[in-house]
Amino acid sequence: MRTYVITGAASGVGKATADMVRANGDKVISVDLHDADVIADLSSKEGREHMVAEVGRLTDGKIDVIVANAGLSINASVTLAVNYFGALATLEGLHPYLAGSDSPRAVITASMASLQPFNQEILDLSLAGDEEAAMKVAEANSDPAGYVNYPTSKRALVRWMREHAISEEWAGAGIPLNAIAPAIILTPMTEPIFADPVQRENMLSKVPMPLNGPAPAEACASAIMFLASEANTHICGQVLFTDGGYEASTRGAGQW
Ligand SMILES: NC(=O)c1ccc[n+]([C@@H]2O[C@H](COP(=O)([O-])OP(=O)(O)OC[C@H]3O[C@@H](n4cnc5c(N)ncnc54)[C@H](O)[C@@H]3O)[C@@H](O)[C@H]2O)c1
Repeated sequence: MRTYVITGAASGVGKATADMVRANGDKVISVDLHDADVIADLSSKEGREHMVAEVGRLTDGKIDVIVANAGLSINASVTLAVNYFGALATLEGLHPYLAGSDSPRAVITASMASLQPFNQEILDLSLAGDEEAAMKVAEANSDPAGYVNYPTSKRALVRWMREHAISEEWAGAGIPLNAIAPAIILTPMTEPIFADPVQRENMLSKVPMPLNGPAPAEACASAIMFLASEANTHICGQVLFTDGGYEASTRGAGQW
């Protein structure tokens, strides 16, 4: 039986992934603000430390898969704190617990937003690991009407993932580290947008998804399941766009 730690497992993609893992007969240690085995606020240092300690206690320090999925998308500094610094703390904090696994894996939930306009200063400070300074700039860019902190947090996460996936710590230790990048998923995160016809049309026109349109959480969970599976032995530092064709539509030939 494999043990998966899934953050953000109380809702949406995390919950759908947890359901699939359990349906396979494997074990889930869920982490979330509520309705989880480990209740932890990943926006804070204390919450992250508590999460690592609790997962260690519940698993005797032996796990097989990390799914760093928790996130939110409001234009506030807490979005950077959870989506980037919380995800890094999850990956780095739980990494030692993968050491005893025959087939360790780590998967991140990034986003197609990692391709969108971002704030260079927040990105640079985040990648330099200066959370305090990055949070100050994020704070200053938290106009509720804006859209900076979310794409910047996801871009930073993908940049970090690609740099670290090939390192001694991850690839060298036999741990595939990869990300999925969804476009629009129909989860509580996007419910308010889809409840408002104007916002809904605006979103659909800005985020083309020619293949099957906005995705159910299970579509993304399936991709996480593959990246986390024992079958995945050689995918390293990749961003799997589970986006109904958004990336191909918007980046097109420019990418290759
Ligand atoms: N919904 C979309 O359209 C979409 C698109 C691209 C990427 N994503 C990403 O998918 C991931 C999952 O999102 P979802 O759509 O399932 O949303 P969701 O809101 O249904 O689930 C997110 C979960 O993260 C948890 N969470 C938020 N802040 C937390 C904190 N401080 N500490 C611990 N847990 C916290 C929430 O409680 C919630 O259970 C996120 O990383 C999100 O950025 C979502």
